[in-house]
Amino acid sequence: MKRDYEKNEINENDEKRKIFVYFVYFVFFVISLHSVRAQQEISYKQVDAIIQEKCIICHSHTLRQSGLNLESFDSLMAGGKRGAPVIAGKSGESLLLKFVNGTLKPRMPLGDELSAEEIGLIKAWIDAGAKGPGANPSTEAAGSPAGKAALPDIKPIVPVKAAISSLAFQPGGNLLALGSYKEILLTGADGKSIGKLEGHTNQVRGLAFSQDGKLLAAAGGNPGQFGEIKIWNVVDRKELLSIRGHSDNIFAVAFSPDGKLLASCSYDRMVKLWDVATGKEVKNLKDHTDAVFAVAFSPDGKLLASASADRTIKIWDVATGERRYTLGEGLDAMNTVAFHPSGKLLAGAGADRVIRIWEVNDREGKQVRSLIAHEDAINQVIFSPDGKTLASTGADRVIKLWDATAPQLTEIKMLERQPDWALVMAYSPDGKMLVVGRYDGSVATYDLTTKKGVAHQ
Ligand code: HEC
Repeated sequence: MKRDYEKNEINENDEKRKIFVYFVYFVFFVISLHSVRAQQEISYKQVDAIIQEKCIICHSHTLRQSGLNLESFDSLMAGGKRGAPVIAGKSGESLLLKFVNGTLKPRMPLGDELSAEEIGLIKAWIDAGAKGPGANPSTEAAGSPAGKAALPDIKPIVPVKAAISSLAFQPGGNLLALGSYKEILLTGADGKSIGKLEGHTNQVRGLAFSQDGKLLAAAGGNPGQFGEIKIWNVVDRKELLSIRGHSDNIFAVAFSPDGKLLASCSYDRMVKLWDVATGKEVKNLKDHTDAVFAVAFSPDGKLLASASADRTIKIWDVATGERRYTLGEGLDAMNTVAFHPSGKLLAGAGADRVIRIWEVNDREGKQVRSLIAHEDAINQVIFSPDGKTLASTGADRVIKLWDATAPQLTEIKMLERQPDWALVMAYSPDGKMLVVGRYDGSVATYDLTTKKGVAHQ
């Protein structure tokens, strides 16, 4: 409604508005020139750099300690169990500052301390009004000469080794793609480095190969600003398309089985379908009321499943873009969804620690199995290529293998305890190996016959 209203206004006052916008740009330009040396206002970007390094490990959509997700400006402002963490202009009353300076216990980050400069920066940001991303053109408008000059001297903080937040095995091939900070690492199944695909704006959170193994789609974006998708030609490692869509981070992408469509899902609550050949948006599937974390096409390409923080999995008709039905059994955020190779079963899991399996068709879904499978939020579930096994990874640092054919979910085997959160997994195309990517940036391949793991590098 609000959007429509705004649209009408633009039509009516197009000319006036244009002049006004140019005027505003001009004013910002002048202000930003002045602010180069004068006061350097703290932007959310600087606060976010600290959060990404020091807090996200415990306060993400998968872990969410004390109910607090610090992945984006909006989720930070939404707060956790104790309510609003930031009172704009009043750092002394803000939970965020009180927890990092030790006024409130336990001091954050748990088991560590921020430096006096970092605490000072968070304090200054709150006192200056706690503005969101984009609210601060003098420091956010990188790209314009004025914006660059106005960037403060604080160096971007990048973790020693960036988390592996997405992972995909090339169908029919021996290539592994690992999504990391601003780049994709290409390796063999044994972990031997083959190359890199660079140029992404931020963390690469979603990766998918087309079924012919020729294309790789990679997605991410900047929190609170935009989502970004790049489609790469894997053979010559050239970037074919770069798309900006969604208004927030993209968490996952999936190719339709015929390779013509790409699905993406975002923190902005939308699921979108893109034409792979042109990069044009084909459909916007809106019905989720919270962030959407995962998407999966049915093997025949007719249905798309999406898993959301709104606790539901929704099933969409790919041809029409209509929602077919909602699977609403989840008790908390749903982080992951996977179609069984037969197309008749769907697995989903998330923050309520339960793995659920539904029998699905194009009209309805019936929950046929459910089990509390982990001691903490479940990050991902995937079916083996032959459909006999289901693998699950959780924030309890445990990876489990389940018999997916038994009438009850039965645990076959637990892999060794993980040194850090295993965020993502993929089966090799022959189903004999399971590759695991972790928060600490490490990768390991497990031989599923011996259940032994070999660390990469
Ligand atoms: C190792 C895990 C860990 C890290 C890292 C961490 N936190 Fe926490 N955080 C927790 C836990 C656990 C709680 C709940 C504490 C309690 O209620 O006793 C919490 C609670 C909070 C709360 C209170 C939220 C509420 O509404 O209850 C805030 C604010 C917070 N953390 C901010 C941060 C910030 C900012 C950082 C980074 C500078 C950070 N945390 C890093 C584990 C962590």
